[in-house]
Amino acid sequence: MAVNEYHRRRDELMRLMGDEGIALLPAAPERRRNRDVFHPYRQDSDFWYLTGFGESDAVAVLAPGREQGQFLLFCRERDPAREVWEGATVGQERAVSEYGADDAFPISDIDDIVPGLLEGRSRVYGNMGADSTFDQRLFGWINQVRAGRSAGPPGEYVALQPLLHEMRLSKSRGELTTMRRAAQISHDAHCEAMRQVRPGMAEYELEALFQHRFRAHNGWPAYPPIVGGGANACTLHYITNDALLCHGDLVLIDAGVELGNYASDITRTFPVSGRFSEPQRSLYEVVLRAQEAAIEAVHPDNHWNRPHEAATRVLVDGMLELGVLSGNAEAIIESGDYRRFFMHRTGHWLGMDVHDVGDYRVDGHWRQLEPGQVMTIEPGLYIPPDSPDVPERFRGIGVRIEDDVAVTNTGSEVLGSAIAPKQVDDIEALMKS
Ligand code: GLY
Ligand code: MN
Ligand code: MN
Repeated sequence: MAVNEYHRRRDELMRLMGDEGIALLPAAPERRRNRDVFHPYRQDSDFWYLTGFGESDAVAVLAPGREQGQFLLFCRERDPAREVWEGATVGQERAVSEYGADDAFPISDIDDIVPGLLEGRSRVYGNMGADSTFDQRLFGWINQVRAGRSAGPPGEYVALQPLLHEMRLSKSRGELTTMRRAAQISHDAHCEAMRQVRPGMAEYELEALFQHRFRAHNGWPAYPPIVGGGANACTLHYITNDALLCHGDLVLIDAGVELGNYASDITRTFPVSGRFSEPQRSLYEVVLRAQEAAIEAVHPDNHWNRPHEAATRVLVDGMLELGVLSGNAEAIIESGDYRRFFMHRTGHWLGMDVHDVGDYRVDGHWRQLEPGQVMTIEPGLYIPPDSPDVPERFRGIGVRIEDDVAVTNTGSEVLGSAIAPKQVDDIEALMKS
């Protein structure tokens, strides 16, 4: 993302906060995996959204209207001895020249500087409750101002999330470009998995293919990939991925790359041996029709829940036709009985976080869809092996089909210029090639 996009976001947020407010946001901490080993570092999404700054041990301060500069960054000082081990640190000089900070200070000086910044501000904005250690420090600084004799301390502590997350929900042109690229990399990897899968392979071998393709584009999995063969596909967040893939089974793969801190989230389900059996095909086509109906319902004339309603209707009708459910469609939808086999919603917002921020309801009503929002559309059917009342041929089959969909002025755009095949014939043709 260009530096001026972060600048624009900070300006917009400060406009919303008003001159009485000040915002403080900490970077994500490093997290220990075991003893001296840390998890790969991932910046906090809100912090990244406003700064594009990728280091831990940093605090961003936005002080609207401050004459000496509104955007202050506290970050690590450069330390040659440490850099021998860990590589270059940004440091204060580059925080100003490259990241657009009006001023930058060593993080070790923060206790001396922040109380002065809080003086005279009536509201402090922060991501309350997200980092209790940081909340404690913030209250300590506020108390320091209170103990002093000069200007009064801030009287209100206000959640930053509602303002910031509304902004994050609406994607800019630059964000959409990155998300299209992320989706395409993931679709290519799904195609590759369709070509390479063989009976007798382990689920983790397919997972490895995704890891390889994602790293080959300087990305990471946006979430732990799900590779479920046979009935493992019925476990929604199956990430063990250590079983062998069997001839005659389907495999469900839910895997998406995170590129430049933007997620993709894509699922395909296909036959391990390259051909769908009759019952697999029947269930699969119900899910596919549900996905098509839901994508059709992504439109600025509709509210958030319309795609889910459309998918649910198709899934319930399909299950009735196949004898997986019996009864009356309206009654089944009303009672929620279909949730035995479709237990999640049809999608979620997508962005820097795979389950991205943004409210789904506004003033108690489903929110209206707007151009620039991005969501997943991911209906599924999961028939557990122990479903004695379901025809035997469907038991142990799990299917999900998931794409990333942006709302446009006239309807929707499925992200990715060449998406992985979804029609049965197209999947079988690709797998044969
Ligand atoms: N990959 C998680 C989800 O589909 O929501
Ligand atoms: Mn997914
Ligand atoms: Mn998803």
